[in-house]
Amino acid sequence: MGCQVYSTGNNATPPSVAIADGAQDLDARKVAEGLVERFGAGGMDPRVRALIPDFDAPFYQAGLAGYSDAAMRIIARRHGCPLCVTEALLDRTLLAGGRGFAKADLGDIDGNIPGGDEDHPLVGQIMGSEPQEMAAAALKMVEQGQRGDKAYRKAAYKDGTPDWFREKLRLPGGEQIGKKGLTSHLPQGDKALDVEPLAPSGQSLVPHRSFAAIDINLACPVKKISKKARGGHWLTDPEGAIEILEAVREALPPEIPVTVKMRRSFDDTPEMYENFLRLFDAAYGMGCAWVTVHGRTVEQKYVGPSRWDPIKELVQRRPDQPVFGSGDVWDVDQIFRMIGYTGVAGASVARGCIGNPWIFRQARDLLEGRLPKAPTIAEQREVLEQHFELALASNADYRQPEKHTGRTMRKFGIRFAEHHPQGDEVRKAFIGVESMDDWRGVLDNWYAGNDA
Ligand SMILES: Cc1cc2nc3c(=O)[nH]c(=O)nc-3n(C[C@H](O)[C@H](O)[C@H](O)COP(=O)(O)O)c2cc1C
Repeated sequence: MGCQVYSTGNNATPPSVAIADGAQDLDARKVAEGLVERFGAGGMDPRVRALIPDFDAPFYQAGLAGYSDAAMRIIARRHGCPLCVTEALLDRTLLAGGRGFAKADLGDIDGNIPGGDEDHPLVGQIMGSEPQEMAAAALKMVEQGQRGDKAYRKAAYKDGTPDWFREKLRLPGGEQIGKKGLTSHLPQGDKALDVEPLAPSGQSLVPHRSFAAIDINLACPVKKISKKARGGHWLTDPEGAIEILEAVREALPPEIPVTVKMRRSFDDTPEMYENFLRLFDAAYGMGCAWVTVHGRTVEQKYVGPSRWDPIKELVQRRPDQPVFGSGDVWDVDQIFRMIGYTGVAGASVARGCIGNPWIFRQARDLLEGRLPKAPTIAEQREVLEQHFELALASNADYRQPEKHTGRTMRKFGIRFAEHHPQGDEVRKAFIGVESMDDWRGVLDNWYAGNDA
């Protein structure tokens, strides 16, 4: 997991309404209608579709560390989500061939029933501190590691493999390098290529079904590691961040879009806002496809509402380029209110879709002139069954896949329970789940009625 602050409780922040004067008076249905009138079916900005044709509606499932794995993504897609982003993956974890890479490795998922063709288009998100590491990790992602681990590491560490890689099972941020241990990731059997990995000579190694884009995380509020910036802390050092963006953009084949996720500033000082603008402009200037702006500061983490006015100002600053928005998108109305208020090309749906894939179906409903409906108990049961099965399949390589899946699914169950009329009791029932039988037991007890 790349960005650990996210999974340590801050996501429990109760839903808030973004600060945006008058946004709550906007009629979501009318905004959706306006988008379809302007852009045609789906309501997506054609500049975005020109880059990723299947990204055909103005919203996507955000990276959500600890949540947005293949199972959650596939459930979202089955409900109409046009694009998903992986959680932030640390460049070092990727280069070490760690669990992060396995999780995001489409080929691996393909072999395990879920994922594969259903899990596209997928944006891979990376986070880190060194331009060369970030560039090599990004290339490894889009090439799906085809050159062999050693070649990417050689590109990242020109002066030789660093000590941390040889000696440590745990990386400086505490991330585990794969549960099988370090030895399985050492370069034995690597098919290192005799080419300069960061300057592919015209020959594309990007497989047909790879990541549709690479997103660079300049937003995560986790503290610096070893005095090195990463994530949102780069907003205090825009020149360093620009080096990273440039290195990644340069390393990837031109047909792979590079996008950026940023907080609206590090804090509310004018100096930090200047830094933000410097980075925002530089990202577009060097050819990044779009920036998603989260309307909270890094310092704010998840405390307090998001602000949509700064996002609106940024859209006006770059009318020639798509900008996406994030922050306080809790339900389908907020997707379209954010778009209507700020003018963004689309909204990133984050906490609003945990245990709520129906937000995507409802958004499609609005775009297609239908009245959005809440999920019936039967629909909820169907999704709960599918989600567990998908999670179990993608956890097949764990020592105790069912136990692991049972435990990791509790947090989803708790959020799904919010749709149930007896939510409190259902939530308690999900908390005790250890196995698929337990999960099915909750479904039999609470989701047996058919109200469809
Ligand atoms: C549990 C959790 C994990 C997150 N993980 C990531 C991540 O890996 N990458 C990322 O860009 N943003 C991540 N975010 C931030 C969200 O994508 C989003 O920007 C933020 O939650 C604001 O949107 P919201 O208020 O609608 O939830 C995470 C947020 C939460 C709550």
